[in-house]
Amino acid sequence: MNISVIGTGYVGLVTGVTLAEIGHEVICIDLDAQKIEKMKQAISPIYEPGLSEMMARNIADNRLIFTTNHQTGLENAEVIYIAVGTPENEDGSANLIYLEQAVKDIIAHLANDVIVIIKSTVPVGTNHKVKEQIQTAVKGRIQVEVVSNPEFLKEGSAIEDTFQGDRIIIGSDNKREAVIVEAINKPFGVPIFHTDIKSAEMIKYASNAFLATKISFMNEISNICELVGADVENVAFGMGLDNRIGGKFLKAGIGYGGSCFPKDTKALIQIAGNVNYEFELLKGVINVNRKQQMLLIEKLRHCYNTIEGKRIAVLGLAFKPNTDDVREAVSILIIEELLRQGAEVVAYDPIAIANAKVLLSSDVTYAASVENAIEGSDAALIITEWDEIKNADLNIFTKMRRPLIIDGRNCYKLDSVKSFSIEYHSIGRPSIVEVTNQTFSEIK
Ligand code: UGA
Repeated sequence: MNISVIGTGYVGLVTGVTLAEIGHEVICIDLDAQKIEKMKQAISPIYEPGLSEMMARNIADNRLIFTTNHQTGLENAEVIYIAVGTPENEDGSANLIYLEQAVKDIIAHLANDVIVIIKSTVPVGTNHKVKEQIQTAVKGRIQVEVVSNPEFLKEGSAIEDTFQGDRIIIGSDNKREAVIVEAINKPFGVPIFHTDIKSAEMIKYASNAFLATKISFMNEISNICELVGADVENVAFGMGLDNRIGGKFLKAGIGYGGSCFPKDTKALIQIAGNVNYEFELLKGVINVNRKQQMLLIEKLRHCYNTIEGKRIAVLGLAFKPNTDDVREAVSILIIEELLRQGAEVVAYDPIAIANAKVLLSSDVTYAASVENAIEGSDAALIITEWDEIKNADLNIFTKMRRPLIIDGRNCYKLDSVKSFSIEYHSIGRPSIVEVTNQTFSEIK
């Protein structure tokens, strides 16, 4: 099938490349000429395991084309995917300017009957508005239908999620279009669920909000675990054994970040608010997350009366491992607060330093390795659970000025830490403060 994809951000690029991989003829359109030139050479603008190789293969087979020209990009399309960003407005609602521009471009260049598939995360009712807008503009000249097909991929495992996903949601008003969109997606081998358009739009927001709720719930449990002396890792494991709960997304930490959960939870509150419904539970989820993001600073303040002048190593900048994305990353908030309190910050991340530099003050120093970052430091804060950090030889921490780890991702087993002279505070687990014959309160 001839498919055009508008937008080559995370969702659009992965959608275009994977649709080409299953045999469709795909043209990806983006306004950013520099980005398009790179993609033509199979250089991916995002770090995503397996993506560049898949791009190269499909470009070479002439199934994947990149263009900035909407005319060439849209003229032969049988299906057009809209996969542009829907960032948040100041009030938390979804900003639809990129979507509106994509719709204008479609109207301007539409020549044949077409199905428009909206992949972008959009408020309930948006697909119908887009359909009405395009149909009014083309005045019956050509046949246009709109289908909602929300995206569920995770950054860092996007290719795997596309081919081994749990479900593909197709929201359509008409059986004919639903069947065509099903046929497009069938080769992915992922179970397909058909529903109406509004429910499809809601499934996306409800899924992200529910996952965020799971995380905030476990973060609250972890805080209580610390107070009562339980271990949240054991608690999560025991809970997850119940099939009704499931073991995934129960990892306590320093709150969720990234380009999706923070924005989609706020947008869902707005969607509910627009119909005079106060989504109290979700407001709680967001508040818990906000508090949890500052937990490592609080823990650090328990170890030092003041952190002014202290050298603090920040390990991990990406909002999660296997991505270089720092959008809404907790690292940014933590570093800003450390600097505000007068600390000296040395940060390390295997791949996200370039992106972090754009957002952070020039006062931050960057290290080339975990070992470099912690050398001479008064504390190490673990923000992202990169394998490199999880598998680090704990002995390196004993050489810090003060061997103090505050681990926001529970990277190490308590028993492993106990055999080293390291003070260790983590999330929802007892702290390890005894070091050889001396306690750290004496050192402080
Ligand atoms: C999320 C959803 O998982 C995808 O299904 C969805 O398609 C995507 O948003 C989107 O809407 O586009 P993503 O933001 O890539 O994917 O990342 P996740 O792996 O979901 O992690 C989000 C945040 O939650 C991270 O900061 C992570 O550290 C945190 N998290 C995740 C926890 O704190 N605990 C957990 O148990 C899991």
